[in-house]
Amino acid sequence: MTQRIFISRKLPDEVIAPLKENYDVKMWDKEDRPIPYEELVKEVKDADALLTTLSENVNKELLTAGNKLKIVANMAVGYDNVDISSAKDLGITITNTPDVLTESTADLAFALLLATARRMIEASEYVKNGDWKSWSPLLLAGHDVHRKTIGIVGMGSIGKVVAKRATGFDMNILYYNRSRKQDAEDELGAKYVDFDELLAQSDFIVCLTPLTEETKDMFTREAFKKMKQTAVFVNASRGPVVNEKDLYDALVSGEIAGAGLDVFVNEPIDADHPLLKLKQVVAMPHIGSATGETRNKMMKLCVENIEAVLSNKKAITPVF
Ligand code: GLV
Ligand code: GLV
Repeated sequence: MTQRIFISRKLPDEVIAPLKENYDVKMWDKEDRPIPYEELVKEVKDADALLTTLSENVNKELLTAGNKLKIVANMAVGYDNVDISSAKDLGITITNTPDVLTESTADLAFALLLATARRMIEASEYVKNGDWKSWSPLLLAGHDVHRKTIGIVGMGSIGKVVAKRATGFDMNILYYNRSRKQDAEDELGAKYVDFDELLAQSDFIVCLTPLTEETKDMFTREAFKKMKQTAVFVNASRGPVVNEKDLYDALVSGEIAGAGLDVFVNEPIDADHPLLKLKQVVAMPHIGSATGETRNKMMKLCVENIEAVLSNKKAITPVF
């Protein structure tokens, strides 16, 4: 019997064309919204492979409902939306999309740092709203980036490429990670420090750590209090590493100067969320890897992982 693939988000036809040659492919086709969970549970019942995005909760119930399920190809480098231990128990391969998105995500993280430091979004709105009446000495004056200290939390492949970007701005580079990264130290001059020292010394704190039990709520009021009052906090990892209420309080009370956020605890974040009312917050809709080139590579990698596993070969980028 032809093996069946279910794709949880509408992907371009040319991306899934190779799959259609050999497999029975079904795809959620509403471009504007994710598939409701209950429908996904129904679809997985007779699927051999699932292609998911970070919007889907790939939990134990869903994995168990997939009677024939062999692989879930998650279109993201992060896989905190997948219950890895249940997948292991059930013998289901989980793949992610590392490497192909490293540079694009680092570009966005650095852009967010620059945009927040130099108040670029606020400035653009100022011009477009017709508020620009004259040049003035401190109009929209922000913070220098060059020669400042960047503190990278999570020195994985994206962290290293952010550090490389920082060398071009003559920045002093600190990092905190579970393990030392000798290559980042040797090649980029990054210095390993403990978390508290990173918070205290950095002008820019850039969070790139995966979301795990240990990193959940890593940035609380206590952490923000340890930062400089001029510090800019950037999060391009996952929302729940930050306590958003604490971040809001830290910003409002002037404990830190600004925040550039690509990720939120609840996505999409409610437009009425207090954080979005602050002019010192730059908010992006989780677009770290969102370039045409990179998203295409991520989709292709998912397709190739599925093809490999369904033809009894090894997955290309399994997470375990
Ligand atoms: C995006 O956040 C990803 O994990 O790829
Ligand atoms: C700024 O644009 C300047 O010319 O000083």
